[in-house]
Amino acid sequence: MAEVISLMDIDEDDKHQEQNGSQKLNKGKSVATATDAKATPWVEKYRPQSLADVAAHRDIVDTIDRLTSENRLPHLLLYGPPGTGKTSTILVVARKLYGAQYHNIILELNASDDRGIDVVRQQIQGFASTQSFSFGVKSSVKLILLDEADAMTKDAQFALRRVIEKYTKNTRFALICNHVNKIIPALQSRCTRFRFAPLDPIHVTERLKHVIDAEGLDVTDSGLAALVRLSNGDMRKALNILQSSIINNFFATCSQHMASQKITDEAVYLCTGNPLPKDIEQISYWLLNESFAESLTRVSETKTRRGLALIDIVREVTIYSLSFGCNDKLQLGSLIATFTQARSALVAAAK
Ligand SMILES: Nc1ncnc2c1ncn2[C@@H]1O[C@H](COP(=O)(O)OP(=O)(O)OP(=O)(O)O)[C@@H](O)[C@H]1O
Ligand SMILES: [Mg+2]
Repeated sequence: MAEVISLMDIDEDDKHQEQNGSQKLNKGKSVATATDAKATPWVEKYRPQSLADVAAHRDIVDTIDRLTSENRLPHLLLYGPPGTGKTSTILVVARKLYGAQYHNIILELNASDDRGIDVVRQQIQGFASTQSFSFGVKSSVKLILLDEADAMTKDAQFALRRVIEKYTKNTRFALICNHVNKIIPALQSRCTRFRFAPLDPIHVTERLKHVIDAEGLDVTDSGLAALVRLSNGDMRKALNILQSSIINNFFATCSQHMASQKITDEAVYLCTGNPLPKDIEQISYWLLNESFAESLTRVSETKTRRGLALIDIVREVTIYSLSFGCNDKLQLGSLIATFTQARSALVAAAK
């Protein structure tokens, strides 16, 4: 299966090149940008094509790069939260080893494939036990990519232990997962582990700026800061929010016959349904200063008008009071007092 190079993939690569090219031509034209924004998911369009494109994780990337260049790639276990570049990094390594047609040369299994013991016995063992390639690819070592490996059953993981050992000579395994504790220790110890931490704000900002430039977008500083804040170190989320803000903004400006395509923090927060910082500030003010009835009316009204979820308001108000309010000790005291009050109320109601 792996040896067949299909034209479909070549087309995909060409399409990618074309899209990148057409973006450059469209630079600065907001209507074209909005149309393109709808057409291609930016998370795919801006998936790193080389290790240099991978933002953050410099130490990890450099180490993997060196090991790949020196043909000393160990079995890998990449783990960490979503949208931090684990899959992208391995795909770039595969591209480096086998060229643009790597999809046809590696064995790639993810959560949508069956993850039971049969897959290990048949697909994985079958692939590992076949002859190595010798038809012009840059590496003779085969790569088996087990994405979302934490979804594998324990039986499958135990079976994989043996397979990894048996075919170590000409096959490398790359396991990727979010929860490393779901990988059995015996597998962990056979791999070199790399933890992909959430991207820090500087790297998210840099990568977003790159996309903003390439797409010719107009994003204000506060808009950019809102994107970085809401992404929480998840680059996939940052790109998705940026793209939907552009689409939302496009339709909003069309319907209101406005010329501006500027992406402000307000546009970003509204697009994600997250409460605006100024609304949270206002709500906190009411909670601290108004009567119970007045607070209830005003907060409910804001909630309905903005279409906010209560859980988001509660989370943001808590964060707001923790960051702007008084010290930790008092905040903790207030948290415990609230629960104690609720407990007395429950006991009283039960009597
Ligand atoms: N470090 C990064 N540098 C540049 N782009 C990134 C990075 N991490 C994520 N991205 C962007 O987010 C998209 C998703 O990244 P990727 O699939 O590598 O995440 P992941 O860590 O495998 O997440 P998951 O655990 O959800 O599978 C990529 O296509 C890319 O656009
Ligand atoms: Mg992934």
